[in-house]
Amino acid sequence: MTVLPVEERSLDPIPTINHFDSTVDEKGLCLAQTLLPHDKVFGLGQTLGSLNKRGKLYRLYATDDPVHTPDKECLYGSHPFLIIVGANTFGLFLDYPGEIIIDIGFTDLDLLQIRINNCDIDIYVFECKRILDIVREYLTVTGSPYVPPKWAFGYQQSRWSYPDESTILEIGKTFRQKGFPCDAIYMDIDYMDAYKVFTISEQRFKNFEGFVDLMKREGFRLVPIIDPAVKVEEGYNVYDDGVKKGFFCKSARDGLFFAAVWPGFAHLPDFHNNDVRKWWGSLHKRLLEAGIEGFWNDMNEPSIFYTPEAVSGFYDIVEQMRHRGFDREKIDFKSNRSEFFEDIVQTGDDGISVPHNRIHNLYGFGMAQATVEGFNQYRPGQRYLLLTRSSCTGVHRIAGIWTGDNMSWWEHLLSHIRMLMSLSMTGFFYSGADLGGFGCDTHAELMIRWMQLGVFSPLCRNHSAMGTRFQEPWAFGDKPFDIMREAMRLRYALLPYTYSEYMRCVRELEPFISPLIFHFDTVDVEDQFMYGGSIMAAPVCQSNAKGRYVNLPSVRWLLWRFRRFDERDVAVYEPGVYYISAELDEMLIFIKENTLVSMTQPVDFIGHRTCKSLTVIGFVTDKATFTYYEDDGETFKYKDGSFSTLSITIEKEDDDYSIMLAKDEHADVPIEINELIFEIYDAQGHSICRRIVE
Ligand code: NOJ
Repeated sequence: MTVLPVEERSLDPIPTINHFDSTVDEKGLCLAQTLLPHDKVFGLGQTLGSLNKRGKLYRLYATDDPVHTPDKECLYGSHPFLIIVGANTFGLFLDYPGEIIIDIGFTDLDLLQIRINNCDIDIYVFECKRILDIVREYLTVTGSPYVPPKWAFGYQQSRWSYPDESTILEIGKTFRQKGFPCDAIYMDIDYMDAYKVFTISEQRFKNFEGFVDLMKREGFRLVPIIDPAVKVEEGYNVYDDGVKKGFFCKSARDGLFFAAVWPGFAHLPDFHNNDVRKWWGSLHKRLLEAGIEGFWNDMNEPSIFYTPEAVSGFYDIVEQMRHRGFDREKIDFKSNRSEFFEDIVQTGDDGISVPHNRIHNLYGFGMAQATVEGFNQYRPGQRYLLLTRSSCTGVHRIAGIWTGDNMSWWEHLLSHIRMLMSLSMTGFFYSGADLGGFGCDTHAELMIRWMQLGVFSPLCRNHSAMGTRFQEPWAFGDKPFDIMREAMRLRYALLPYTYSEYMRCVRELEPFISPLIFHFDTVDVEDQFMYGGSIMAAPVCQSNAKGRYVNLPSVRWLLWRFRRFDERDVAVYEPGVYYISAELDEMLIFIKENTLVSMTQPVDFIGHRTCKSLTVIGFVTDKATFTYYEDDGETFKYKDGSFSTLSITIEKEDDDYSIMLAKDEHADVPIEINELIFEIYDAQGHSICRRIVE
């Protein structure tokens, strides 16, 4: 690894950066590298386009753009980590909080060009032969990924427009009555009073504390949304206090910066400042003391619908047009215009003012840090669920992300798959897209296929926009409901595998979701992925498809054509490319040769139940090991070694297998498994079953 800090505003000498031609001009730094025809470029976290990022221009400038069409250059975050794979394999991380333009063969087919309008930037080049080592080095520098509480691996239900507590109670009841597992229900902006952040509508939530408690007793965590914009309204304590303390962003021209978002005119907290972050954290007091254990931070790019100037300008234009005729283009009301951001000034802990654009991509990070301040203050030592829409590298240590306002389109189901991989390799292990699609009306087939993908999406949340068709699992009739319930039961059944592998990946700094090329060098596949080290998912992502092509690289694979978690329809495949059928109620799950997967009985919610009976499915032609992992699921004590493991090794011996178990138990976290059921498959797909009871 080479670490090359570039001197601030140094025009001379031009820095040498391994692999790149670098030039410095009056604007900043430009890096260029020729790409060979077979070079591939991975990374960039939450961006549109293919998994191999070649052929597109990316603008890393956090932006709230709710229409994710392929021509868009930026989304909500900035994750400037690239992995170039080819004759010269290496990784590149640009530690810079402002706008970065990355043109990967868009302007010039074979040229990777990076433009940053500044020279105050740290550049890291990771020179490792193996891709997984590049990711490991990158995570060693930027920090180890966020671990949510165990319940956050359950299914989560959301919708913008659940208006009140009785609606949410009813939804919770329906989940339990219908036996569809669920661990959390989200509260969108509708729970607030006039969209004033940190308020709760007393009319619609008459006894909020009691409501949170009741839901928790039924096994549901409530996850309220928190937006940064604070309504300008005298007498509203958050506004009054923020103004008094000087905690809001300033305008470059004069006074405070005004932005209009959901509550109307508002001020934006200046999260660049530590005191502001502490203050914001303390505002979570009522919610946290009521028993809330998770939040989602939205609109924190920050999103600005309009400003007072933009509105007055709008009236001027309309007024002129009254005389000269209307021109629709001119009256198009554009949110998030660049001049809004140019007007914002923030202030650091040292009291020095910084133009917002210089640190634009840090705004979501600051808000997430401020939320963590609240958790630390009111729930010290406890893990929390935190999702943030806007993020930059570094946020991956403290929060997960949802990928924003996707649509109920097949293209966005595919985007979900690609983004899961790109995000995981940039450190965001806990992420996911809105299942079913946020905007537009979804329909049964798309919802089912998306729910099947959701089984393997670390964040598994069904969320939809106000005004769209309802997409709770029962909204499509009995047959779709049954298929989706079976898929979610599988997710819950797989929890011992998922959690163990997630924690292994966090400890070993290995992406939890990864492209096949990270493990088998010759494959170019963008719609299949490794989920941990044993399972390869091949979701169906096309309309009306009754199957799909699957690329099975290098080793043998055991296909489990899934319909129900307690049924097996398995077959062994030699390496190759196959068309494999998958009816709407079937999922294609592949277990890699010489690996193991562990399962248990599905439950209605994860809660605090421990796993007593473990089923180990093995595809063993030689030797396979799996490490079952257990911790308390709710505190950070695992960081101090408070976790237990059970290492399971199965070795093939002629026509039989030997099974070896090795427990490493921490006194605080006993492993309570008293029954192990083994289902071991050989190269022909023949299986033997064993049961070990303690
Ligand atoms: C935009 C978010 O991306 C979406 O998830 C949310 O439902 C709406 N804001 C309303 O809060």
